[in-house]
Amino acid sequence: TYVITQPCIGVKDASCVDVCPVDCIHPSADEPGYEDAEQLFINPDECIDCGACEPACPVTAIFEESAVPDEWKQFIKINADFFNG
Ligand code: SF4
Ligand code: F3S
Repeated sequence: TYVITQPCIGVKDASCVDVCPVDCIHPSADEPGYEDAEQLFINPDECIDCGACEPACPVTAIFEESAVPDEWKQFIKINADFFNG
């Protein structure tokens, strides 16, 4: 799965939402909770690992799970937790 990390916080550019073929990045701008969300999140149960979102992000916030920088590893769980609770 792909994971959204620290650089998205406060930016929420949402270019990733536009390119995701399975619409698994939330909350998008037209969904409840978008305004309150610090960042967007990728649903690990729905991501098909297509990689389209990674180059679309202007602040390089998105990484394949195994490539997340060490200092941002916690975001793997943070993304998953958004959809679990
Ligand atoms: Fe969506 Fe593909 Fe990015 Fe997964 S890798 S979040 S399916 S654009
Ligand atoms: Fe965030 Fe980058 Fe998407 S800033 S909303 S991960 S395009």
